[in-house]
Formats: sequence, C-alpha cells, structure tokens
Amino acid sequence: MVAPPARSLRVLVVYGTRPEAIKMAPVVAALRARAKCFEPIVCTTAQHREMIDQVQELFGLAPDLDLNLMTPDQSLNELTARVITALDEVLERVQPDWLLVQGDTTTAMGAALAAFHHRIPVGHVEAGLRTGDLTRPFPEEANRRLIDIVAQALFAPTARARDALLAEGADPDRLFLTGNTVVDALQSVAATLGDTCRHDEVLVTVHRRESFGEPIRRICFAVAKLAERFPQLRWIYPVHHNPHVRDPARLILERIPNVELHDPFDYPELLRYLKRARIVLTDSGGIQEEAPAFGTPVLILREKTERPEGVEAGVARLIGVEPETIVSAATELLTDTAVYESMATATNPYGDGRAAERIVAVLAGERFKPFEATTDAKKNPRTIATS
Ligand code: UD1
Repeated sequence: MVAPPARSLRVLVVYGTRPEAIKMAPVVAALRARAKCFEPIVCTTAQHREMIDQVQELFGLAPDLDLNLMTPDQSLNELTARVITALDEVLERVQPDWLLVQGDTTTAMGAALAAFHHRIPVGHVEAGLRTGDLTRPFPEEANRRLIDIVAQALFAPTARARDALLAEGADPDRLFLTGNTVVDALQSVAATLGDTCRHDEVLVTVHRRESFGEPIRRICFAVAKLAERFPQLRWIYPVHHNPHVRDPARLILERIPNVELHDPFDYPELLRYLKRARIVLTDSGGIQEEAPAFGTPVLILREKTERPEGVEAGVARLIGVEPETIVSAATELLTDTAVYESMATATNPYGDGRAAERIVAVLAGERFKPFEATTDAKKNPRTIATS
C-alpha cells in the first residue's frame, strides 16, 4: 500500500511512442479528473514524431513538455543517451513526487533510470510482462526488467504478470493488479467506430526489431502467397515508418493487386480495420491485446510472446515467421469454419476498462478491488461464418 499523500502530488507522466501514448492517455485523464489530489505534468520525448502526434491529438493529451528527441534511423544507444540527458534536466526542474512510465520502450527505460538516479519514485504501468528471453523482443525484454527493478510501484496488468514479478522477488506491497490500460483506451474510442460488419479483409502488421531483415522478408513472402491463394480477400497492411520495415514491404508486396500498403493508420482507423477484419496477422503486442475485444482471431508472427493470455483463452495462436507455417495457419482459419468459430471469441483477458482508475487510486493511497479476468472466454462467443 502506498501511503496517502498529505498534499497534491506532482506526477510526471513520460511517454515517447504511439503505443505508450495510447496506454498512458487514460491514466493522464484519470489524474486530470482529480485536480485536488494530483498535479499531472505530461512529457513526451517524441521518440516517434509523426506517429505520436496523431494519438496526442485524438486523446487531447496536450503535453506540457515536448523533448522532440527523434532522429532518422536512431540507434538504441544514441536514443537512450538523449532520453537520459533530457530527463535529467526535466526531473531537476519539475521535481515530481512520482514518475510514471509505461511498457518497455527506450523512452520508458531511460526515463525510469533517470528518475531512479534522482531517487524519485517510479511507477511502472504494464509491469511484469516476460518472455524469459532477452533477445525476444529485443531490446524490450531487457527494458521492462530494468524498469521493474528500479520501480517503487508495479502496476501488473494480469495475474500472470503479477505472478512473474512475485517469482522474481518483487515486494507484494508495491505490486498492484490493475488490468491493462489499453482496454480503457480502446473502450473510449470503440463507441465511435461506426461500421462493424465483417469485411473480406485481413489485417497485417509487422514492426518489431527482431523481425527486421530475413524474418520480415519471410512474412512478406507468406502474405504474397496468401494473397494469391485468396484473391477475393483484401490484405490490408499499414506499414510502420521505420525504413527497415517499409523497404522490404514495398519491394515484395507493392505490385500485388489485392495487397494494400498504407501509411500507418490513426488509432480509430486501426481499430475499425481490426474490428471488421476476418483475421489479423501481427507481431505487435498492443494488437494482441486489442483484437480479442472484437473477437478477431490473431495469428502472432513471433517465436515468443509476453502475452500468452490470448493464446490460453484460445483467441490467438503463436505461429512464428516461417512462410509455410504462416500460410498453412492462415489458410486453415480462412477455410475451416469450426476452427474459425472456436477462435472468434469476444473476450478480454487483458482488462476491464478500469485500469487507470485503479492506478490513480494506488497513487492516492486508496484501497481498490484488483482486476479479475473473465476466465471462461467461451461464455461470450461471437460467431461469424467464413466463406
Ligand atoms: C519502438 C519501441 C517498440 C514499440 C514501437 C512502436 C523501443 C526500443 N522500441 O520501436 O517497443 O513497439 O516503438 O512503434 O523503444 N520513425 C519515423 N517517424 C515516426 C516513428 C518512427 O520516421 O513517427 C522512424 C525513424 O526513422 C526511427 C525509426 O522509425 O528512427 C524507429 O523508431 P524507434 O523508436 O527507434 O524504434 P521502433 O522500432 O519504432
């Protein structure tokens, strides 16, 4: 339990990439809604520039500080050094009572380390995700472990994440089971989505560093093959701005008539495609958490996932990056109605839309009821015929 504060708390919220901004937006809103208790200060490193600006606007984040740190093709060390140096100065000036970071990016790790050096308490939103393999995802698995070592408050999204932290010896008094704030964010946007009918579309997204090079080419070849095998389907691929992702995608897929390469979608557009897609092929963590809310089956294009809850609930499958495996798994899902219906289940093992409320309650020193996942995903089937 965090001690109740005697005065309003200054909370510095730092994020740098699009998914962090999405997942922090509900926390910022919950802090701002309690102006008597909190003085939130929102700081973006802008580790991503274009991709973060649209999300900030959508959620009205209006950062108080924009450090504008992105450079083209930035290396991990350059970016880490810039984040730590810039945050050192911000922490000195702002003197927050808490620093909140989310997830496992270079921004989150650098900011947490900078705050630790200033002996400022760190709260880690989405603590305890683990693959157990420092190379997958790289460098995120290391980043989240480093953050969890220095954090004073660990906001675990699921029981599995909480148990992983307990197994590593985390102090149970600093550990809070909140659900994932991505569900809060998704619920606030989902109501505005409009058209919800299934379309003849498959959504594809790839952006992870460990997918660069050969894996991404293999994934693109698999998509090319699938597009040829299923000419009646549109294969929708919003391509990440990173040149390591953009170049092979263009080279291999640009001229295939039923493959559509897009610039990254804004968040409502991505959710709209996700909701109406037959299936989604992805290496993204956030999409693994979002797709189950819409009952869209997920094929995970990775060797390992730190989010096995979706696989356990039967709404996702971990299939790796071998073209034959991708083609056969997608073909099965697109042609076998029984297999499809067993996966097309609207459930959410990741949250209930109240994670931000719980996080803010913890900072205010209040008691709260921990998140409990619906254990039986099959209670809420969403059946959509394949054709
Ligand atoms: C980062 C995160 C990853 C997260 C992903 C979300 C780390 C280590 N990784 O990876 O966990 O899932 O963001 O997207 O922090 N670029 C632009 N404009 C943009 C965004 C990116 O031009 O708006 C280009 C730049 O050349 C940049 C490159 O993409 O150098 C890569 O961005 P970077 O933040 O270094 O890493 P990501 O691979 O995006």
